[in-house]
Amino acid sequence: MLKNTRVTDPELHSIVAAELDRQVHNIEMIASESTAPLEVLELSGSIFTNKTTEGYPGARFQAGSQEADRVESLAIERAKKVFGAEHANLQTYSGSTANYGVFSAILNPGDTVLSMRLDQGGHLTHGSPVNFLSKVYNYVFYGVDPQTEQIDYDALEKRAEETRPKVIIAGASSYPRLIDYERMSKIAKKAGAYLMVDMAHVAGLVAAGVIPSPVPYADFVSSSTTKTFCGPRSGIILCKAEHAKALDKGVFPGTVGSIHLATIAAKAFSLRYAATPEFRAIMEQVVANAKKLAAELTAHGFRIVSGGTDNHIVMVDLRPKGITGKHFQNALEYVGITVNKNMIPFDPEKPFITSGVRIGLTSISQRGLKEAEVIEIAAIMNQVAQAPEDQVNLDACKAKAEALIARFPLYPAGAFED
Ligand SMILES: Cc1ncc(COP(=O)(O)O)c(C=O)c1O
Repeated sequence: MLKNTRVTDPELHSIVAAELDRQVHNIEMIASESTAPLEVLELSGSIFTNKTTEGYPGARFQAGSQEADRVESLAIERAKKVFGAEHANLQTYSGSTANYGVFSAILNPGDTVLSMRLDQGGHLTHGSPVNFLSKVYNYVFYGVDPQTEQIDYDALEKRAEETRPKVIIAGASSYPRLIDYERMSKIAKKAGAYLMVDMAHVAGLVAAGVIPSPVPYADFVSSSTTKTFCGPRSGIILCKAEHAKALDKGVFPGTVGSIHLATIAAKAFSLRYAATPEFRAIMEQVVANAKKLAAELTAHGFRIVSGGTDNHIVMVDLRPKGITGKHFQNALEYVGITVNKNMIPFDPEKPFITSGVRIGLTSISQRGLKEAEVIEIAAIMNQVAQAPEDQVNLDACKAKAEALIARFPLYPAGAFED
């Protein structure tokens, strides 16, 4: 692995090698993570890194952009095909910059944006006071029903009528349920707003046709290409043909400079891979594993937010177990299971403590773990929660977790041997 760096910068090489070792030996369950195929790793570091180009295929600011045009055009065509979209922009660097690209295309300072509350599932780029955009736009929020813990569409509709936003954002970071895009599109139309769907978390499930697509209903769809999409660390935006010109201008020169062609090449690979039966089977297993984990944890006495899941995320309320999100995250990390503490709806704890954890099933499903292994993971999690201060207990759990994940290689044998 990294055969040149190994010689020229052993210090750096050893850090990367240690990270590989960590990923190999841990049960990675961060919901925004997945394992990039080897082709994505290869292409992300390819020779396209050397090329600077700005503008769009056929209309570049730099000479020597013939191959750049080919790779970006290929990625655009594959994106349109796999998502059934009228237009695609592949130039944004991440899910966050994809959102900025849409905002830049359609909003003016002071415009009103209606989005999901951060503490009930929304994302930092959807109007958090700590994100700089909160100084630019006027954000108003909708949330979930306290009983069902699912989006309260009636209240959302009322809020849209009252606030008349320019855009309504659907999509979230920690929402385990399907979103009714058709209903949200009707609400947006009635309020005279654009509908933007940020599908950063669920793009892989959408591409595989495992959950419904927002593309037919939304004016704009933004996304990361990591998370369930399993691609490089980058972004993508889809839109209706009527918004194509505005979107492209909003992205370049609106928000980005020269494009990351190597990453665009990696995205092109992922967009092809997402259309394969192999990818679909993995995405189906992701959802099956998430449902199994929710059921098993419920049986162990945890409370699952909204009572279950429709996607790759399980949101766990730890209060029945008398442990905070921070404490449980740290105990699980010791054991070799990586999750993150997370606010749950109406959480009485502060964001750095929390009453919950968010668990994602993508990475382990890619590694081949199925329901039988999810049952084992739930049992380990329960054993940790029963006695999180007991070192003997934690060490026993660690041994079980290590033995379990050792049966499922992260990458094929020899993948990183020079
Ligand atoms: C809903 C949502 N949008 C956008 C992002 C940002 O994506 P990125 O980390 O690729 O910038 C995230 C990241 O978690 C997210 O959950």
